[in-house]
Amino acid sequence: MNKRLLTLFSLIEPCGTFADIGCDHGIISKEILDKGVAEKVYAADISAPSLNKAATLIGRAYEGRFFTFLSDGFSRLPQDIDCALIAGLGGEETLSILDGAPSLPPTLVLQPMKNADKVRRKLVLLGYGIDRDFTFFASDKYYDVIRAKRGLIFDGYTEDEYRFGRDNLRERSNDFLRFLQMRLNVLNEALKNAGDPVQVEKLKRERLKTEELL
Ligand SMILES: C[S@@+](CC[C@H](N)C(=O)[O-])C[C@H]1O[C@@H](n2cnc3c(N)ncnc32)[C@H](O)[C@@H]1O
Repeated sequence: MNKRLLTLFSLIEPCGTFADIGCDHGIISKEILDKGVAEKVYAADISAPSLNKAATLIGRAYEGRFFTFLSDGFSRLPQDIDCALIAGLGGEETLSILDGAPSLPPTLVLQPMKNADKVRRKLVLLGYGIDRDFTFFASDKYYDVIRAKRGLIFDGYTEDEYRFGRDNLRERSNDFLRFLQMRLNVLNEALKNAGDPVQVEKLKRERLKTEELL
């Protein structure tokens, strides 16, 4: 369990059935079982070699409580899932898994590698309220993680909250502030090299927004 996986694990609440969508190595699934966070775990992956890693890691230790599924997203899973994790996939892939699901569980923990803003918008459209939503630093990268609950009373997001995540704007963690500083450096570098006036204007607007948040 590296820092990224520990952070994701910390957001998974005790439940009956947990699904690890795009499980790959299966480390999270194993931790959920080892720590008794869920009674039953479904590990799903679209790739047989990836799924085999999870099956090998967990072996026969949890017979009757651990099940693997070669599945595109939720498509081949039973529907008794209480909480699902979709982590380490691109934002667009995450969206397509949400769109393609025959049904979605009451709780979702999502860690898209990109386009977290689109994922937030989709969750709200699907009737979820977002209760945790922050950026964290692990293994030389910044990650966004979002926990959403269906039917949670939710007062809507501002445009900035969709873009950056509400907890970041309210809590202003060190990781988020460092992320903004890094973004500012990237924008300043891009501005040095930009020639197209439209692009320059766009970069300047982004820089101003980043400076406002810092
Ligand atoms: C980068 S790994 C992430 C593994 C793990 N979730 C993590 O966060 O460390 C992405 C995994 O998602 C799987 N995957 C990609 N698209 C998928 C889909 N539509 N349905 C299920 N699994 C998918 C890939 O095969 C791969 O094993």
